[in-house]
This record gives sequence, C-alpha cells and structure tokens, in this order.
Amino acid sequence: MSAVSPDQATLILGGNEYQFPVTEGSEGERAIDIGDLRAKTGHITLDPGYGNTGSCESAITFIDGEQGILRYRGIPIEQFASSPTFTEVAWLLISGKLPTPSEYAVFSEDLTRYSFLDEGMKHQFEGFPRAAPPMAILSAMINSLSCFHPELHELEDETQFNHAAARLISKIRTIAAYAFRHSRGLPYIYPDPALRYVPNFLHMMFSQPYRQYVCPQMVRDALNLILILHADHEQNCSTSTVRMVGSSGANLFASCASGVCALWGPLHGGANVEVLNMLHQIHDGNITPEEYVRLAKDKDSKVRLMGFGHRVYKNFDPRAKMLGAIAEKLLPQLSANDPLLNIARRLEEIALSDPYFIERKLYPNVDFYSGILLRAIGIPTNMFTVIFAIGRLPGWIAHWWEQNRTMANKIARPRQIYTGETHRDYIPMDQRSE
Ligand code: SDX
Repeated sequence: MSAVSPDQATLILGGNEYQFPVTEGSEGERAIDIGDLRAKTGHITLDPGYGNTGSCESAITFIDGEQGILRYRGIPIEQFASSPTFTEVAWLLISGKLPTPSEYAVFSEDLTRYSFLDEGMKHQFEGFPRAAPPMAILSAMINSLSCFHPELHELEDETQFNHAAARLISKIRTIAAYAFRHSRGLPYIYPDPALRYVPNFLHMMFSQPYRQYVCPQMVRDALNLILILHADHEQNCSTSTVRMVGSSGANLFASCASGVCALWGPLHGGANVEVLNMLHQIHDGNITPEEYVRLAKDKDSKVRLMGFGHRVYKNFDPRAKMLGAIAEKLLPQLSANDPLLNIARRLEEIALSDPYFIERKLYPNVDFYSGILLRAIGIPTNMFTVIFAIGRLPGWIAHWWEQNRTMANKIARPRQIYTGETHRDYIPMDQRSE
C-alpha cells in the first residue's frame, strides 16, 4: 500500500478550490489520488495513452525510466545474469519471494508434470493453416486450455491458483512448440520429463523422432536470461490488458490469452520481428543504415527505428544493455560473424549521436537485440514474439492474481469525453436524400 503524503493537491476550478490527497510509493513515486474527482468537481481527467495515469498500485516490478532501473520484487534484473533460471524468477514474480529449495523442487516437478497437452488439443492444431501466425494460435490455444481444465475457471484459493499458474507456464512451451512444428509439417515432439524448462522447450521445437536435440549450456543460459528479461514490465500494454480483462472476473486463461493479442502489436512485443525485418532490409542492400535513420527521422516516411524508444525509459533500457552484451559474447560462438549484429551496432552508433534521438531520449529497448539473439539460437523470426509471450506470462499471471486479491470484483471501466453529434432525431429511410 502507498502512504498518504502530508502534501495535498489543490485544484482551482470555476472559482472553487478542491483538495486531493497525494500518495507516495515505496520508491518515492508520487500520485494525486483523484478517486473522488468527478463526485467533487463534475470533471474527469483526459490522458490518451495513459502516459500520466496510474491504473493501480503494484508491488511486483519497479522501473525508474530516467535512471534505467528495472527490479523484480526489489531485485535488480542484472543480478539474475550469473545463474539465469527463468522458472525461479517466475516463482519470485508470482509469489513475491525467492523460492526455498523445497518450494522450487515442488514447482519444478509441477512444471514437468504439466508439460503435456490433452491429446484432444493436438488435433486442434490441425485446424490451423500452415501459415497461421503463431501468436494467433497461441492466443487461441491458451483459451482452449481452459476448456480442458474447467476446474480452474474459478480459482477459489492460492493452492488452486498455483496449480493454474504452473499449468499455464508449463504448457505455453508445448503450445508454442506444437505451433512451430505444425507450421513446418513436422511431427509433434512430446515433452521429455528428464529435461528442465528451457531444454525441454527447445527439445520440443528442434528434436526429430530419430534424433534428440541437445541444448548447449550457453544456449540454455542465453534463453533463460532472455525469458527472465521479458518476464515483467509493470503496466505495459499487454499486462494492462490482462488486468483490464481480469477485472471483469474473466478466468486466468482468458485474461492471459488477451495479453497475447496485445503483445502481438508491432509497437509492443511484435517489435522484435520488425527489428529483424529492418536489419534484413538494410543488409539486403535496399538501404544504408544512415539512410534508414534519416527515414526514421522523417515523419512523412512513416518509418520508425524499430527497437528504439520507450514510453517509460528515457535512458538505456537495462534489458537492451544486457541483451547486447550477451549477443557480443554468444554470437561469435554460435554463428559466424553475423552481419545483422554489425548493422544493429552501426544503427545504435548513428542514432545515439543524432540530435533527433538525443532530444527525444530515444534509446535501444528490449526488442533491439532480442531478435538477433533468438535468430542465433535458431528460433525462426515468426516465433520471436511467441518467445516474448513465454517470458511475459509469469508477469501477466502475477498481475492478474495481485489485482484479483486487491481489487476483487471492481471492474476497470474508464470514462471518456464525447465529441460526436449532439441530439438529433431518426429519419425514416424514405425521407432521406442521397
Ligand atoms: C516494448 O511499455 C513497455 O514496457 C513495453 C515493453 C515491455 O517490456 O512490455 O518495454 C516492450 O513494447 C518495447 C517497445 C517496442 N516498440 C518499438 O521498438 C517500436 C518503435 N518504438 C516506438 O514506436 C515508440 O518509441 C514506442 C511505442 C515504444 C513509445 O512510443 P511513445 O512513448 O508513445 O512515444 P511517441 O510515439 O509519442 O514518440 C515521441 C516522439 C515522436 O516524435 P515527435 O512527435 O515528438 O516529433 O519520438 C518519436 C515520435 O515520432 N519516436 C520515434 C521512435 N519512437 C518515438 N522516432 C523514430 N523511431 C522511433 N522508434
């Protein structure tokens, strides 16, 4: 809970003065509590895109956009780099604390046990065209999961919630891998209970019935860290969508399926695909990095430097820094000198010294390097945003549960300012002129 500050906000409107409390979070962020603004003044606030509007109080993730700080339940993301274990971070985000060894053992066992899909779900994949966008399949199949687990529609207590969370976090891998296999006409590869979270996912993606994919340690560490860095990011578009949908009482599966749809957008999670498309466009000789940056500065071009800029970070996105460092280390070991990495570095160099980007505080964001890394691991481009969704799922689940417990049955319903036609009457068809 935030603390009420001794300060008050005074609004002078129509010759009247109105006082509103100011609240302060644990990191000193301050907000004017306008919970009774309309009742007191007959006015609402207007803030398209919610750049100045807090939708909730949350104890899950802290971001300081000016300083480039990102912490999960108080722990700086940089501290997960030494032994990256995505499932441990998933537990931290959802439960609020690092798991004890026995808690982690039980959670890992659940993730292994729940990795299989009901055989009936496999046939659903056959109904999608081979070229179906994987994010469409992912959203549909997460919703479909709830049909196979009706007992998890109403989560009465923490135990039931934990079961639902573990099922979702485990099965999203299988759904993602099966969507990939279906798109290539390949046989589905069952999860291998002997494998941990990331190696099992890559096994389902890349093994063949006659040859098991063996996950190199450096790939296992890199993908664990990529998933960790995507795990939560406070009230981003997709997480806010999950909270909005969940506020209506919609079940956890339906709420997370809506998060997948929001994440799909090219301005959000879909940006990692757009970054690769941008790098390919430059590499294939259509355009130089300098020319591309010039286009990105020209409003009429409708071109943006994908992977750059952020609503909250007005400094380097700390995740971009970490992903850039991993790329420098990993790529030479995984694939010959990747020309796309060199182009990305050149774009970064040009943009960071260009007044247009400097004045607007546009820096590389999480999507700028993630695509290059995923490509080096062998993930196909159209699966990049699916990987983002696998990473972000624990964050969505944590926020859904936090809201469910703190704002139970309070539906999110913003207001608007109407700017359409004022009152007019219906005109019967035979009296309307062309
Ligand atoms: C993610 O919210 C989150 O936390 C998201 C995320 C998460 O983890 O959930 O961090 C993940 O979505 C990262 C962002 C990925 N998207 C991209 O990389 C797409 C490219 N970037 C942008 O489109 C843009 O920067 C946004 C969408 C990320 C942020 O947009 P804002 O905050 O609404 O900023 P804006 O569009 O109002 O831009 C402000 C100015 C404008 O110029 P002026 O009108 O002031 O002259 O900056 C310009 C914009 O034209 N601008 C860019 C630009 N981004 C902003 N110009 C060129 N290239 C860009 N990338």
